[in-house]
Amino acid sequence: MDLHLNEEHVMIRDAARDFAQNEIAPVAAHYDETGEFPMPIIKKMGEMGFMGIEMPEEYGGAGMDTVAYVLAMEEIAKADVATSTIMSVNNSLYCYGIYKFGTEEQKQTWLPPITTGEEIGAYALTEPMSGSDAGTMKTRAVLSDDGRYYIINGRKSWITSGPVAHRLVLFAVTDPDARPKHRGITAFLIDTREPGFIRGKVEPKLGIRASATSEIIFEDYKCPVENVLGQPGQGFKIAMTVLDAGRIGIAAQALGVAEAAYEASVQYARERIAFGHPIGEFQMIQQKIADMKTRIEASRLLIYQAALAKEEAKKTGQRFTTQAAMAKLFASETAMFVTHQAVQIHGGMGYSKELPIERYFRDAKITEIYEGTSEIQRMVIARNELGLRGSC
Ligand code: CAA
Repeated sequence: MDLHLNEEHVMIRDAARDFAQNEIAPVAAHYDETGEFPMPIIKKMGEMGFMGIEMPEEYGGAGMDTVAYVLAMEEIAKADVATSTIMSVNNSLYCYGIYKFGTEEQKQTWLPPITTGEEIGAYALTEPMSGSDAGTMKTRAVLSDDGRYYIINGRKSWITSGPVAHRLVLFAVTDPDARPKHRGITAFLIDTREPGFIRGKVEPKLGIRASATSEIIFEDYKCPVENVLGQPGQGFKIAMTVLDAGRIGIAAQALGVAEAAYEASVQYARERIAFGHPIGEFQMIQQKIADMKTRIEASRLLIYQAALAKEEAKKTGQRFTTQAAMAKLFASETAMFVTHQAVQIHGGMGYSKELPIERYFRDAKITEIYEGTSEIQRMVIARNELGLRGSC
């Protein structure tokens, strides 16, 4: 595939690379160690336009395309996956859904605080008993007698940026009798500073430790009807449409961490001497390098294909579900493969906290889990190829 980067693409890629290497990479280990939320970094990224790359300038965004988004994501993730996770949720899971399904008034109110990095956005779909099978959620929203607001009760789990988010897109059941049941789900715009929003248990995680994750709880939270996103009953489709976009971002994130691990491995293979030779002269190391490089470049092509399909969808309205799922599936499994090989190539040093290799390995794992596990991506791809409907 021939991908001609235009001047804007090169500019954002270089700006992201510069910022990532100079301002994120030097402090990534600190944030990983402490689990602190990197708010100063996010604020700067907001000022640079990285928190709403595809959002029009009138909503505080950078007004660029999906290719620009994946290029920037790759560079940020190369320095720190946790920071890129916060960026990904703000850009895809929060902004994209509001931009695509929101009213003009909603866009003007709900986008600028997030696109500018002043506030943090989140996306609340998952529940303790509803992960991959997202249509089985229990969080309930009941219209008040006077029809002015919904009263929301329930618990969401594994919410990225949950401990700090100012605003979020929430999915809740408004019609429990709807059949198929996903047609009873509605999307809401939530301001977390309103009464009835409670932050729950913070998850202690294996990786992306600076990206805060928690439960969130709704206790008689009153959401005005004008904060319904899209139509009542359209929530599940909104959730799935947004995840299609989000998965391209996660694929780019996976590519970034794979590249970081790969580049460190190549350098180490050139420098590390064993049995009187640089270890890169040994065929067993060469095989690893060849497989790592090939999978990385294949991931890149799938990601660009998905990004271009998403751009095309703006004109045709066609879904890019399969392209996004393939990109995420392959890139995330590549990230796991590459970071695993990188630890092995580095030997004891790969296992030590003195180098970032073990962090890459821990961080890469999440890309095979969130925004749909690898098993879900395979299911989505196969169903689309076979023309099968789901189970809802
Ligand atoms: N775009 C638009 N609509 C879609 C769609 C898509 N990509 N996928 C499905 N739909 C529609 C279908 O057309 C169908 O609508 P109709 O009945 O009106 O035709 C409806 O949604 C239901 O579809 P299915 O019957 O296929 O649904 P299902 O329940 O069988 O399976 C699933 C759907 C693909 C498994 C879905 O549940 C899924 O993707 N699960 C994974 C959830 C997930 O990724 N969770 C991650 C949470 S987010 C996260 O990680 C948070 C974070 O903070 C980073």
